[in-house]
Order: sequence, then C-alpha cells, then structure tokens
Amino acid sequence: MNSFRVSAPGKLILFGEHSVVHGKLAIAAAVNKRAIATASEQDGIIIVDAPDYSVKHETKLADALCSLDEINELREKNDFESLKRMGREASTPLEAVIASALERVKGKCIAGKGIALSVSSDVPKESGLGSGSAAFVASAGAVLGVYGRKLDPKTVADIAYVGDVLCHGKPSGIDNNTVAFGGYLAFKKSNGPMPLKINPKIRVVIGSTGVRAPTSEMVQINRYWLELEPDRVKKIIEKAENIAERGVDALREEDMVEIGKLANENHVLLRELGVSHPAIEELVIASLKAGALGAKLSGAGGGGIMFAVCEDDGSQKRVADAIQRAGGTPIITKLGAEGVRKEAYNSKTIKAL
Ligand code: PMV
Repeated sequence: MNSFRVSAPGKLILFGEHSVVHGKLAIAAAVNKRAIATASEQDGIIIVDAPDYSVKHETKLADALCSLDEINELREKNDFESLKRMGREASTPLEAVIASALERVKGKCIAGKGIALSVSSDVPKESGLGSGSAAFVASAGAVLGVYGRKLDPKTVADIAYVGDVLCHGKPSGIDNNTVAFGGYLAFKKSNGPMPLKINPKIRVVIGSTGVRAPTSEMVQINRYWLELEPDRVKKIIEKAENIAERGVDALREEDMVEIGKLANENHVLLRELGVSHPAIEELVIASLKAGALGAKLSGAGGGGIMFAVCEDDGSQKRVADAIQRAGGTPIITKLGAEGVRKEAYNSKTIKAL
C-alpha cells in the first residue's frame, strides 16, 4: 500500500498577534515540537486515528466531501458561528483537511479512493503553540504525498487552513503558514506569508499557564474594544505593527537584547488590549526577575502561553526554574525549526492503519 509520512512543527508568535487579525504585520517562528501524520489509500472511506487529539472516526468519503461543500458554502457566507459549531465535532476539522487535499489532487469528481490517516503529536495541545495547525499541515502534506505531489509549503498551508477555520472561526492565517514554512515568518493578510531568510537560533523558555481561553473569544474581546474605543485601540495596533517591523531588523541582526526589549514593549500593548491574564503576568515577571532579556504573552492570551528571551543556556535554566516556581510549565527550546517535511516511513515499526 502506498503510504506517506509527513511532520510539521509547532509555532510561537513573536510579535504582532491580534493586530495581525486587523491586517497588520506579525512575526512568528516554528518550534521544535512536531505532529506526524501517516496517510495511505483506503477504499471509499476516510479513517482518522489521532489519539493525541481525541479523534478516532470513520466516515464515508462521499459524506466527508458533502460536509466539505457545506463548509465552503458557510465560508463564502462568512457564517463563522456555524463553522465553529461544526468544528466542535472533534473529527470534522481533520476530515475536512483530508477531503480538501483529496479534491486538490483529484479534482471535484473523486471516485473510490479514500484515506486512512494516523496522527500523533508532541506539540502541547490548546496552548497557543499551534498543535492544531501542525496536525492539519502534516495531514494535508501526507495526503498530497500519497498522490505523489510535492510538499509545497504554500499549497499545504492553504489546504490546512480549513482545519483552523473550523477550530477558530476566521484566523488570520499566521499559524498554518508558520507551521508549513518553518523557520521565521513575517505575515500580513494583504501579502500572505513572507518567509524571512534568516535562522538565528533564538533561545527562549516557553511558559504555559495551563489556563485556556478559546482564540475566537480573545479575538472577539479585541474587536469589542476596537468598537468601543477605536482611537485608543487603533493606536495600540499600529504600535504593535511598528514593533513587528523593528523585530524583523532585530532578527536579521541577531540582536537578542533588542528582541527582548521589543518583547517587553509588545507585552505591554497586549495587556492594554485586555488579552493578558494574571497567570501570564506572574510568569512574565518571574522570567524578567530571573534575568530574561524580555518576556511576553504569545498567541491569543487570556491564559495560554508566554515566552522569555534568554541570552545563554544558563539563563534559560534559571528562567525555566523561575517559571516552574511561579506555577507555569516551562519548555526550554530554540526557535526556527524546520517546516513541513517528509519523514521516513517504515511499515514494520508503525502499527497497521
Ligand atoms: O490560537 P493562537 O493562540 O495561536 O493565537 C492566534 C493569533 C491571533 O492573532 C490571536 C489570532 C489570529 O488569527 O491570528
């Protein structure tokens, strides 16, 4: 049986989350935790086995394709509430990604062949590290691979986007693109993904609060404030874009002190936007006290994760200890992991699909 295995990393937003939703520039980097998807052909059905995402489901290929048509109609109507409702069924986003990948390779009249897909992941779930996007990108890539298509990051990211839409409503597109391209990515809705041709191995400690707030709700809070206080919020969003622009220069120059400073500045803006959380503030302060060059919330906020920029291994260790003592879960890592990639497939070591 023709099987194909693909992995994709997690992601961390460095600068410009939330303002990216309003068309501003943001910068993200791939994180070296990965989701791995293995796909093979299967007659007439789609089977998904993704224990790390609590999904084990089988559906007829025809039903998955009908459901994808419905999803696309809702997207055209901008009916994001209905999309989110559909996305609550745990298997729907992965099945939609598979159906979308199949349509891409075989056109609208797909006869016969479905897909069996298994997904595993060590990207922490529901924390702002892009675990969903990593699974969707790896899955889209694995299905394309079964049909001999190359792993073009833009194509894979575009197919995977439907999974993020079902989970989050109307995401900006920064998550799926960062995960697909890997490394460091500048992203603006009007331009799409702009991979930065740099690879500084920035040392960070990611701190997870364990407090979860849905991305779509945090984005909604932001829209609410934008309506209530347009002048104030627009200024914040513009300042965040300026930070992202300066961030590109600092990354190019590998200026860690400046990157830390910009992280602090961006964090203050996110707090002013109302998307921080007491648990995030504690981890940010603990990191700065322990000697981090800078620290900020990352992703949607309302809990979730923060990261601290560190100058060397020793500082990473001290900051990780401080985050732990402050009640968070630290991950010591370097940014800029490889994006979507083919993995060796050894059928003997992989349980039968
Ligand atoms: O879902 P998260 O935590 O990775 O946040 C995504 C970033 C936002 O800017 C808040 C939303 C978006 O669609 O870009």
